[in-house]
Amino acid sequence: MIPIIKPVFGAEEEKTVLEIIRSGQITRGKWTLKFKESFSNYIGATFCHTVCSGTAALYISLKAMGVNSKEDVVIVPSMSFMATIDAVILAGGTPVVVDIGEDYCIDPVKLEEAVEKYNPKAVIPVHLFGQPADMDRINGICGERGILVLEDAAQSHGAEYRGKKTGNLGDLAAFSFYASKNVAMGEGGAILTNNVDLDEKVSNWIEFGDHPALNLRITEFQAGIGYWQLKKLDEMNERRRKIAHLYNEEFKDLPGLILPKEFEGRKHVYHIYALRHPDRDTIVEKLIQKGIGARVYYEYTLHQLRNAEHLDCSFGEKVSREIFAIPVHPALKNEEVSYIIETVRDIINNL
Ligand SMILES: Cc1ncc(COP(=O)(O)O)c(C=O)c1O
Repeated sequence: MIPIIKPVFGAEEEKTVLEIIRSGQITRGKWTLKFKESFSNYIGATFCHTVCSGTAALYISLKAMGVNSKEDVVIVPSMSFMATIDAVILAGGTPVVVDIGEDYCIDPVKLEEAVEKYNPKAVIPVHLFGQPADMDRINGICGERGILVLEDAAQSHGAEYRGKKTGNLGDLAAFSFYASKNVAMGEGGAILTNNVDLDEKVSNWIEFGDHPALNLRITEFQAGIGYWQLKKLDEMNERRRKIAHLYNEEFKDLPGLILPKEFEGRKHVYHIYALRHPDRDTIVEKLIQKGIGARVYYEYTLHQLRNAEHLDCSFGEKVSREIFAIPVHPALKNEEVSYIIETVRDIINNL
């Protein structure tokens, strides 16, 4: 089976893990500091805290923004991984779900409507599948009303919006380094900001002091692996983009198939190569029979999943019935890419 996702590790990661074992310093050591510094430099943000998961990063960011009670409304898009909405619920706030657009990210027109109606404290744009959300329009809507913007950048390491990296485009950003992510540590996360007050509030939630706090640290092993993953990120993202562009070319004439779109000024890093087709379930089943690890991301919408307050989300609902993903990870060999292309073409042409 060609897996849907596979991390790429090399000699540097192996050597570093062994070095950490031999050193005896397995947490709070030089690799944690090195990773933190190189990640904030890479993204371009001033402050960075590593935490144990993307979910923890979202949760702590929301607490730092002052999301505590039901009156604290946080807007989330109709399509994302469930952690985006769960973090709001866990923080004690009220999530309100707004539909996505053709980029599969929050639709700024719908966002504006929701902002007028619900007076939210914060918005979480998700750079879904590696595509940056339309941050100028989102920041335009939020900035003038004092609404905080928390980027969910769990799927967008290295993606860019008008030349700036995602994770450096809002008030706070949450990353995940889960095993499947473009930077993979197994488990892990990071919170980034340029805002000194928010940074201090984040610190208060995760560093023991005069405020009750959580231990969400990563180990040296995770940081050491992440350090080398980051060094290879641009190269791995280029490989993802190359495969995705080849797919786009080879699939453009297939009946009923909707390809991922790229938008002017936005660099997509294809964490997931997502396609849509009305006969999605048949296609996914046939791909799996042929040894290709196709998968559905996501078969749910967030308002349906958590029975949340929402505006009309009929596009997201339609997408959740049609969307599926095929492998696009940098570990794919050229022969595997050719086999995937041939098989997808064959299945769709013979439906
Ligand atoms: C969009 C999105 N947000 C949040 C998360 C949560 O990250 P984690 O699994 O590291 O908790 C993930 C990934 O799993 C994700 O894809």
